[in-house]
Amino acid sequence: MEIKKAGVVGCGIMGSGITQLCAQSGYQVVVSEMNDELLNKGLASINSALTKRVEKGKLSQQDKEATLSRIKGTTNIKDFSDCDLVIEAVVENMDLKKKIFAELDKVCPKHTILATNTSCLSIIDVAIATARPDKVLGLHFFNPPPVMKLLEIIKTIATSGETLEIGKSFGESVGKAIVVTKDTPGFIVNSLLVPYMLNAVHMLEAGIATREDIDTAITLGLNHPMGPLTLLDYIGLDTNLFIADATYEQTKDPKWIAPNLLRRMVSAGWLGRKTGKGFYDYT
Ligand code: CAA
Repeated sequence: MEIKKAGVVGCGIMGSGITQLCAQSGYQVVVSEMNDELLNKGLASINSALTKRVEKGKLSQQDKEATLSRIKGTTNIKDFSDCDLVIEAVVENMDLKKKIFAELDKVCPKHTILATNTSCLSIIDVAIATARPDKVLGLHFFNPPPVMKLLEIIKTIATSGETLEIGKSFGESVGKAIVVTKDTPGFIVNSLLVPYMLNAVHMLEAGIATREDIDTAITLGLNHPMGPLTLLDYIGLDTNLFIADATYEQTKDPKWIAPNLLRRMVSAGWLGRKTGKGFYDYT
C-alpha cells in the first residue's frame, strides 16, 4: 500500500515536528489539536522553523509555501477519514491514547495504519483499543524530528509483517534511518539514554561535579552534541520523569528510579527550556 496522506494527532513539540517532516517530504498532512489555540501555536512553530530555513538560505520561499500548503490543521478527528497513516503524538497518557486509537479506528478506512510516537508506553496496550492490532505499530521519532536521523520502529506481537514493511518504507521516504525493536520498555534508545541521564542527575545531587563539568565531560569526552543535563532540559524534565516512572512501574528495575532532585524540580515547575528554567536558566 502506498501512503499518500498522513495524519498526525497532536501538534506539540513532537507532533509539529513530525507534521513538518511529512509535509517537507511531499505528503499531504492533516494535524489535529484539542482546540484552536493549541493548533495555532503548533502551526506557528512550523511556520517559524521553515522561515528560519528560508533566512539561512536552506529553503526557497516557494518551497516553504508549498510545504505549508500541504498541511491542514483541524480540531475534528473525523478529518483523518482519508489518511493512509495516522501518527499519534499526544502526551504520554495511556487512557488518552487508547481513546484516540478507538476513535481513529472508527473514523479511518480499513487499510489505514495507526502508529504511536510513544517513548515508553506499551504499544500492544494501545493497539488492543482498536479492531486492527495487526495494523498498529510504534514510530518513535527523536527531537527535533525534522533534524534527527533516526526512526525507531516498534513491532508488537500483533503487528503484521506487511505493516512493518509499510512503516519502514514510510520512514525511508521521510529520510530516516530505521531500527526495528520489540515492544519492550524504553525500546532501544530510551532504554540506554534515560538511565544515563538519571545517573547524571544522581551525580549532580551527590555533589560529585558541577552541572557544567558533567555536561562538558560528555560533550568533549564522548563528542555528544549535548551533555546529559542540557539534553534533559531540551527534552523536558517532566517528560523524562514520566518515562522513568512509567518504565519503573513496568519493570521494577532500579535503574529507572528517578532521583529526588529531578522530582523536586518537576514539582517546582522547572521543566527545562520550555519553562525557561531547568538545570540551566533560559530566561
Ligand atoms: N526544528 C527544525 N530544525 C531544527 C530544530 C527544530 N526544532 N532545531 C534545530 N534545527 C536545525 C537547525 O535549523 C539547523 O539546520 P541547518 O544545519 O540546516 O542549518 C540544525 O538543526 C542544527 O541546529 P543549530 O545550528 O541551531 O544547533 P546545533 O548544531 O546545536 O543542533 C540539535 C541542535 C540538532 C538539537 C543538536 O544540539 C542535537 O543533536 N542535540 C541532541 C538532540 C537529541 O539527542 N535528541 C534526542 C532526544 S531523545 C528523544 O527525542 C526521544 C525521547 O523519547 C525522549
